[in-house]
Amino acid sequence: MFGFPKKLWRINTGLYLICGSILFLFTIVLKFTSLDCYLNDARQIIDLNTAACRDHYYKAFNLSASGKKNCTKIIEGDWDEVRQTLIENLEVKKRKVIASDKDYIELAKDCATFKTVRKYITFRLSTEEANYPIAYSMVVHGDIEAFERLLRSIYTPQNIYCVHVDAKSPDTFHQALRAIVSCFDNVFVASKLESVVYASWSRVQADLNCMEDLLNSTVQWKYLINTCGSDFPLKTNAEIVKTLKSLNGKNNMESEEPPVGKKWRWESRFEVKENIVNTNIKKSSPPLNINIFSGNAYIVVTRDFVRAVFETSFAKDFIEWAKDTYSPDEFLWASLHRVPWMPGSFPRHSKFDTSDMNAVARLVKWGSLEGDIQSGAPYSSCTGIHRREVCVYGTGDLHWLLQQHHLFANKFDPKVDDHALQCLEEQLRFKSFYGNIM
Ligand SMILES: *[C@@H]1O[C@H](CO)[C@@H](O)[C@H](O)[C@H]1NC(C)=O
Ligand SMILES: *[C@@H]1O[C@H](CO)[C@@H](O)[C@H](O)[C@H]1NC(C)=O
Ligand SMILES: *[C@@H]1O[C@H](CO)[C@@H](O)[C@H](O)[C@H]1NC(C)=O
Repeated sequence: MFGFPKKLWRINTGLYLICGSILFLFTIVLKFTSLDCYLNDARQIIDLNTAACRDHYYKAFNLSASGKKNCTKIIEGDWDEVRQTLIENLEVKKRKVIASDKDYIELAKDCATFKTVRKYITFRLSTEEANYPIAYSMVVHGDIEAFERLLRSIYTPQNIYCVHVDAKSPDTFHQALRAIVSCFDNVFVASKLESVVYASWSRVQADLNCMEDLLNSTVQWKYLINTCGSDFPLKTNAEIVKTLKSLNGKNNMESEEPPVGKKWRWESRFEVKENIVNTNIKKSSPPLNINIFSGNAYIVVTRDFVRAVFETSFAKDFIEWAKDTYSPDEFLWASLHRVPWMPGSFPRHSKFDTSDMNAVARLVKWGSLEGDIQSGAPYSSCTGIHRREVCVYGTGDLHWLLQQHHLFANKFDPKVDDHALQCLEEQLRFKSFYGNIM
């Protein structure tokens, strides 16, 4: 009665043994064939040397654009595709409401889910990048979705990010931002927050607060890049690292002889009330005969430059002098960059003047300069809208944007043209995984 099951058991043992061995061999083979996809131990670097690995990771981390548009065509400058997408912008008058502060507070309650759902790349994509950390000073005041998409597009675990939130921004914005930031070890809110008044010193102070915190961090970053909430990168982290290395220890920013029409900005004293007002009291000339150069708020500077801003007495004197001027952000960095004893600086001779178009820091389309390139304009018309004379890019600007050498462009706004942002996100993610082999 018990003979039969016993025999079955004996057959089964053999079967189990065979199946087990096959399974064991299969696992070994699988392990070896996909070995390149494994994370490199403690440094969390993934090796993207095989096509299978790249495909594997891209499938999981792509940011493919939604809807009918073909971003490849848009980026190649296919005008039919662009026109259709722009028409869609007009037809869908109210784009489905962008994510609110509350949405982000809710989503970021569970950091693991937040990072997965939003497809953050939480590992290093190459040894070269892992060995070249960058510091970011991000000055923001509203629009949580724009901030989060910017952070996601520049986030890598080896970099360090300081976020300055305007002290007068709504509480829910502060909460949403802190919720997002709390999910990352290498992203933090500035230890001192300013109430930022347009064109006043507070704009510079916001960056200075972040710079001081970033110098105090243990990350040995090489360069600092500052951004605001309406910026977006045009390059991947790997491309940014390559560009920074090619600067050979020099800073990079717009810095030119100031137009006569701007001199009033530092010739009399300004006071900050609710807005900035001219007191018409004459100011002394800058200390140590520092020459004033004209530039903008967005810079690419070395760690030594940032340290010198805090540690040298002449930089401190110049900063004190600049505090009651109009829009010091648009001359302070540009001028310090031309002081011979500042690290990474250029001589003040006009041969070293750099326009915003020739610098890599920030690409901006000024409304007043747009026009027909054949007739001498620097760039063609904005396909989005204008805000404070600056183009908020539309889908039709992408083809041009991606042919420029700049690391970042300003301005983008998901409420104005989300297609442009989506295509940029798709393209950057693709290049992050496939860029090095193309
Ligand atoms: C992009 O990611 C989704 C999952 O989020 C996946 O279903 C899709 O196949 C991916 N697309 C590509 C082109 O890899
Ligand atoms: C998008 O356009 C490119 C270039 O014209 C084409 O190769 C590709 O197949 C298109 N993709 C889709 C999903 O239609
Ligand atoms: C940075 O560190 C220095 C000395 O270690 C300290 O005096 C200073 O208060 C710190 N600054 C900030 C903003 O934490």
